[in-house]
Amino acid sequence: MGLKKVLEDAREQGLALTFDDVRLRTGYSEIMPDGVNLESRFSRNVGLKIPIVSAAMDTVTESRLAIEIAKLGGIGVIHRGLNIEDQFREVDRVKHHLNGLIEKPICVYASDVVLDVLKRREEKKYAFHSFPVLGEDNKLVGIVTGNDFDLCDNSSLRIKDIMSAELLSAPRGINIDQAYQLMKERKKKALPLVDEDGTVNGLYIFSDVKRIKEGSARNYNLDSGGQLRVAVAVGTGDETMDRVSRLYGGVDVIVIDTAHGDSKSVIETLNEIKRNYNIDVVVGNVSVGVSAKRLVDAGADGIKVGQGPGSICTTRIIAGIGRPQVSAIYDCARAIDGSNIPICADGGLRSSGDVPIAIAAGAHSVMMGGMIAGTEESPGSVVYVEGRQWKSYRGMGSIGAMESNSGSRQRYLQSDDGRLVPEGVEGLVPYKGKLSEVMAQYIGGLRKGMGYVGAKDIRELIIKGELDRITLAGFSESHPHDIRITQDSPNYRGRN
Ligand code: XMP
Repeated sequence: MGLKKVLEDAREQGLALTFDDVRLRTGYSEIMPDGVNLESRFSRNVGLKIPIVSAAMDTVTESRLAIEIAKLGGIGVIHRGLNIEDQFREVDRVKHHLNGLIEKPICVYASDVVLDVLKRREEKKYAFHSFPVLGEDNKLVGIVTGNDFDLCDNSSLRIKDIMSAELLSAPRGINIDQAYQLMKERKKKALPLVDEDGTVNGLYIFSDVKRIKEGSARNYNLDSGGQLRVAVAVGTGDETMDRVSRLYGGVDVIVIDTAHGDSKSVIETLNEIKRNYNIDVVVGNVSVGVSAKRLVDAGADGIKVGQGPGSICTTRIIAGIGRPQVSAIYDCARAIDGSNIPICADGGLRSSGDVPIAIAAGAHSVMMGGMIAGTEESPGSVVYVEGRQWKSYRGMGSIGAMESNSGSRQRYLQSDDGRLVPEGVEGLVPYKGKLSEVMAQYIGGLRKGMGYVGAKDIRELIIKGELDRITLAGFSESHPHDIRITQDSPNYRGRN
């Protein structure tokens, strides 16, 4: 990346700037917003179709939102306020939502009663309807699909009475293109993969494969097996390695999610994960260049930047530390320039225009909490206050989050028996509707920003994006002024 004069000058003066202190300069452009390429990376080996990551917070990212954001091209980080099994289940739901190759298909037995299978499906909230059927020797004997269940009017029957025994199966080595052709030719909706001894070792589902092959999933963020990508947050406590061992194999990225990433325990945890597992590890949070560099030297595959910019954070007020976010991003990006390790700018974004600013300062992706809290897909239900709809949003270092889980206590270094000293607040944000609608505005804003700069992709925005420092008068001029707004806008909520 190039030097950014405003941020260099500020650094020389010991001055740190944030989003509202700067705006992007326009540049000569042959780029139309629709023509820009938004692909980027969250970590060394894990790509993004849009440079947006959802925050590892209990009011933001569980499976429902992680599924939706991956379908939009980003990635969700499942929070660590969950116990290991619950976090595993959330990851599993994302991975099973849309399947190219289902690595470990859920099977049923020929002797199972239909009603029991239906109940299990309901209890486990499986979003799929086809199951390979096994005989007593655990070998494949049939397949049962959604149609078989729908057409069954006696749920006390056994699976063997409703399944199709006329089987199409294939060896494990078959790829997604071959599977697609085979299912089309033989008019089968499911293709179990079997080992030589007849054990089931994978499954392709036609509707999923078709979606991947024929385009409606073109912009989904998928792993090499055609499953939605997802990340998880872990800490540094005693149970971290158990957590990683349980999640390894299912999840795409591990995020060591701490309030102070440049610390001994974080680096030791990073070393231990990298020594034992072949998986990308994103580490954070940091806000100064030397910290980012230390983590990269220790083997981090991605750096998360942000100490105190978040909309629910009180760290800067309670502990007096932290760094305005645009300078933090720039300093970290400069320090690890040339390392090929991407930066995720975490927190502090308030409107779509902050996304291109974060990228111009050196980030490869942005992590959003408040900007996507309150969507249909975020955890929690809608509440009505004074006739308006709201959803809860809270800091992971708030009293409420720390009281309800030890992961949060550990993120903010509280002992299990000590008094809680929160570093975050809890409250309500307006209900925003569907994530896809909200994201369309954020992505639209980013595209426009790139068009104005003349950047055809994220790399060019990092290189070309020049920032001007603005004054309070400039800030005031930037917002609508001298008007009483009479119509809500889908992408502008005022200065707040
Ligand atoms: P936004 O601005 O997107 O910020 O709402 C989300 C990010 O804030 C961080 N976070 C916290 N920081 N106290 C803090 O100081 C907290 O309680 C807290 N909870 C979350 C986190 O990095 C998140 O992604």
